[in-house]
Amino acid sequence: MLYDNLAVNEAGHLTIGGVDTVYLAEKYGTPLYVLDEDKIRENCRLYVSAMKEHFGSDSLPLFAGKALCFKGMYRVLEQEGLCADVVSPGELYTALAAGFPAERLFFHGNNKTDEDIRYGVDSKIGWFIVDNLNELESLNHYAGEKGIRQKVLLRVTPGIDPHTLEAINTGRIDCQFGSPIETGQAATFVEQALSKENIEIWGFHSHIGSQIFEAEPFCDAVDILLKFAQEMRSRFGFTAQIFNLGGGFGVRYVESDPHVDIPANIRALAEHLKHGCAELSYPQPRVYMEPGRSIVANAGITLYTAGGVKNIEGYRSYVTVDGGMTDNPRYALYGANYTVLMANRMKETATDAYTVAGRCCESGDLIQENVSLPEPRRGDLIAVLTTGAYNFAMSSNYNRICRPAVVMVCAGNDYLTVRRQTFEDLVACDL
Ligand code: LLP
Repeated sequence: MLYDNLAVNEAGHLTIGGVDTVYLAEKYGTPLYVLDEDKIRENCRLYVSAMKEHFGSDSLPLFAGKALCFKGMYRVLEQEGLCADVVSPGELYTALAAGFPAERLFFHGNNKTDEDIRYGVDSKIGWFIVDNLNELESLNHYAGEKGIRQKVLLRVTPGIDPHTLEAINTGRIDCQFGSPIETGQAATFVEQALSKENIEIWGFHSHIGSQIFEAEPFCDAVDILLKFAQEMRSRFGFTAQIFNLGGGFGVRYVESDPHVDIPANIRALAEHLKHGCAELSYPQPRVYMEPGRSIVANAGITLYTAGGVKNIEGYRSYVTVDGGMTDNPRYALYGANYTVLMANRMKETATDAYTVAGRCCESGDLIQENVSLPEPRRGDLIAVLTTGAYNFAMSSNYNRICRPAVVMVCAGNDYLTVRRQTFEDLVACDL
């Protein structure tokens, strides 16, 4: 099995966190997102303890809410002692509505509107991660109105290509996020930030991409940040005390994906940073990271009920499920790999390769192609693994399909954490 929280019970059913998926599907209906709370907590603890051990006690992970955002998630994060980043006023609202402490939130985003900025300042959010000069002006204005000095990190782009998917590769120079170091724009950004009386700059943020399997690209980013920080020190007398290295460690979607040893990578990164600081005689900064995927992806699976089974002679066989790109758009968007299983017949051997299709009126609505399965029957339970990140978060109501419920399993029990949308929800905003 891809992860140690998955197993097969005597009835031949897939279990997650020790709970039978057939039971979950019967109790809550399908499609259904199932999240293993114990696994989320385990992942949180891996980061917290490794970061504190290797980077120092004031270093911390900030969960990237864009990967999975609902109130119950923030309650778990709060208990585990993490901070969180929010990228929109909606994520900020969700975190606050869950009672997550505002001072532990970091406001990200490359186009915060004046309204967003005011909302963040009024909410007494701990930190802004400022993307650009226009935002800096606006933040300075609203912080001044409120009579505060707002703590910020400045987002800079180190110009690194970590060989990840094009659409999720955000550390290059040519992208819409942050200010590039190489062109000199990042230095101007620092100079401007230092001149703003209501802005308190603490350090830099860089995010180089997502689904990265080794420490090396992060080490490269650290080298570039350190060199830049040193330059800012000598030019403006400003010493950055925080490096936020963004998110990005990868997860296994299929057996051939490598396993990332997060503590070992963090240790390697910390050693690299220590060494770099010593070489430049630069005081070692506090380090933040923003994991999203690697906290929640392997805690989640999606359950579907099989509908039609179609064998197109001379072409291929399809099995259609009761969800699709509305609850998981990642194959349609990125051609992302997934492991797909027949959750109610785990002991049976595969008979053929099937294309798992969704129910949307769109030929691109596929969950996965070439999946080996026992011959599916209407009513079978299909499980897609590693869907904890960027599935619920990227779900939509295309074709007016209701969003599935989210169920948590914890210590062998299960509870509803996001209820299934209803038809009334679908028309709730329609006048
Ligand atoms: N911090 C920043 C500034 C980010 O842009 C991201 C992800 C993260 C942290 C979290 O990265 P993670 O640890 O999750 O890799 N929708 C795409 C992923 C887009 C990621 C964008 N930024 C997907 O489904 O693969």
